[in-house]
Amino acid sequence: MIKRLEHLGIAVKDLKEANALYTKLLGVGPYKEEAVESEHVTTSFFQTGDSKIELLEATDPASAIARFIEKKGEGIHHVAFETDNILEEMKRLEEAGFRLLNEQPKKGADNKLVCFIHPKSANGVLVELCQSILEEE
Ligand code: CO
Repeated sequence: MIKRLEHLGIAVKDLKEANALYTKLLGVGPYKEEAVESEHVTTSFFQTGDSKIELLEATDPASAIARFIEKKGEGIHHVAFETDNILEEMKRLEEAGFRLLNEQPKKGADNKLVCFIHPKSANGVLVELCQSILEEE
């Protein structure tokens, strides 16, 4: 089951400048900054009530974020929905005809397991499913 809109992902050219702008916009600074090396991005997260804003800056010209900005410019990159059971949701959505971009959940930013759904199967929107990983160790 989808529980809620967890965050909006926004592709930015310059994370430092975007952090300053969003701090001004939201009246509060990011609560974390995190590199996700597998995706070649650096991210920052802002809490906005019950949801979050994730800013993403490419660290490599070949990364998906760099290609997105090249094609479409800065802006909303993905919409993330939270679930308690990502495997079950992936199965449900695949059976419903959505095209999953990864067959297994992968480790994303902010202690999450994530799976992406192709924008072509979701009205042009890149959808992220995410499930919190309980912190251990
Ligand atoms: Co995200």
